[in-house]
Amino acid sequence: MNKCYITTPIYYVNASPHIGHAYTTVAADAYCRFKKLTGVDTYFLTGTDEHGEKIKKAAEAAGEEPQGFVDEVMQNFKKLWQVLNVEYSDFIRTTDARHIRVVQKVIATLTANGDVYKSRYRGFYCRPCEAFWTQSQVKEAGGCPDCKRDVEEIVEENFFFRLSKYEGWLKTYLKENPDFIRPKIRYNEVVGFLQHNPLEDLCISRPKERITWGIEFPGEAHYVVYVWFDALINYISALGYGEDHAAFSRWWPAEIHFMAKDIIRHHAVFWPIMLRALGVEMPKTVFAHGWWKINDEKMSKSRGNIVNPFEFIEQFGVDSLRYFLLREVPFGADGNFSWDAVTTRLNSDLANDLGNLVYRVLNMSEKYFNGNIPVPSHKTIPDVFHSFIGDRTYLFAEYAKAMDEVNFSGALEKVWKFIGTMNKYIEDTKPWELKKSQKESELHHFIWSLLQGITIVAAYVYPVMPQTAESIFRQLGGPGSIEGLLQEGLEKNTIWTIDAVFNIKKENPLFPRIDVKDTDDHR
Ligand code: ME8
Repeated sequence: MNKCYITTPIYYVNASPHIGHAYTTVAADAYCRFKKLTGVDTYFLTGTDEHGEKIKKAAEAAGEEPQGFVDEVMQNFKKLWQVLNVEYSDFIRTTDARHIRVVQKVIATLTANGDVYKSRYRGFYCRPCEAFWTQSQVKEAGGCPDCKRDVEEIVEENFFFRLSKYEGWLKTYLKENPDFIRPKIRYNEVVGFLQHNPLEDLCISRPKERITWGIEFPGEAHYVVYVWFDALINYISALGYGEDHAAFSRWWPAEIHFMAKDIIRHHAVFWPIMLRALGVEMPKTVFAHGWWKINDEKMSKSRGNIVNPFEFIEQFGVDSLRYFLLREVPFGADGNFSWDAVTTRLNSDLANDLGNLVYRVLNMSEKYFNGNIPVPSHKTIPDVFHSFIGDRTYLFAEYAKAMDEVNFSGALEKVWKFIGTMNKYIEDTKPWELKKSQKESELHHFIWSLLQGITIVAAYVYPVMPQTAESIFRQLGGPGSIEGLLQEGLEKNTIWTIDAVFNIKKENPLFPRIDVKDTDDHR
């Protein structure tokens, strides 16, 4: 596989982003950067979902017209991705003309194929979710099954997409492709849902008396397109589906659609059926991670219990947030956000383990060798490094396997094990004693080996902490660089070069220790 198309959900612009949004996008960015390191061509799409009742209401509350409002709020997402060093290839907005054209074309095609039809409909409607429910669903949930709010009974003419026609196909597809939905718990959930709930056709239009802020239904000026039907199409409209054949076939099918578990059904039921009806290949994987919670409640705009990523970054730095999010909780599981957890994690892993290692080794390099570390006369790898880099593949293989499986915390754990080994190596070797007893060549070999080890750590933390990796490479003044890594790729593993020379340019410690009082304001 030498190409990889990666997506995040397109976020609603009814409010500014919180760390839940940052989580998905940072994960996608780290995965994309890892792929780049392994020589894969990547295309990374993110964007914003700008239509529908939710957005219209938020615009009204702000006293603005919807278009002006979305133009403004959308900037907060772009700003956050810039601050977070998210290297996306494209940013799609559902108000982009290129997107609107494709949505209308998709509906026209599905209508021509007989998969979209008009019918009178009686159902139960949840305004905030913009979703229709059946009587039994509403009865069972005691309101809207998604948000639990009251629903209203509505009778009207609408357009429907024949989901039911494809139910059998979807079940077989899922059976034959058990890795299509990940992690397994979500796969089982969707399969279980399909077993117990026969699929009903999806209402994909909304009359303009009720909703005006949407894409006009093609050929039916009286209707707009249901916001979810509009939104899912972003994954192909951004590639120029039906318009730019070269770009589309270059990148589609997507390698992985990232999202949280709340929208798995849209992506694992509606989306594959839409693609199937269009005759488009399936994405390879739909991955739903867990929720960040606060005091066991999902962090969300509507609950107002959010952590502002800009404030976090301002206080603790970009890579601290990226690292905390991807290290603290196994990807796929829910996580409880707390400032105590932030303090402990950042102090122990970043300030103590990584930060101290780099600072100590660079300090010794300057103190004992004026910062110039030539190639030592004997270049063997210290015994204690052997299980990681003895044949220069072990750490890489384990790390790469974990990253490939989007197991970020597992991959980082492997790197931190190596960092721990190096810290212990320093304590056990006691370099100050080598100096005292004038064992210059041993001391030289010792420091050179640690600098080599740190070079490797810099490469492996790059996907999650690009700024830190760059800073380490800069301070080492050695053979490693981000550009070099990206050109040659991790697999060639040329960062450990047998004749590496280091010219140290030590800067401030990478991560200052956090005092408990630093997080007091947030509590
Ligand atoms: O659902 N924990 O947009 P949205 C983890 N527009 N991730 C979270 C989170 C939390 N507490 N809160 C939000 C939509 N997220 C639709 C998507 S896609 C075609 C349309 C992340 O603004 C997570 O990725 O509500 C979740 O799936 C997404 O934000 C929902 O963002």
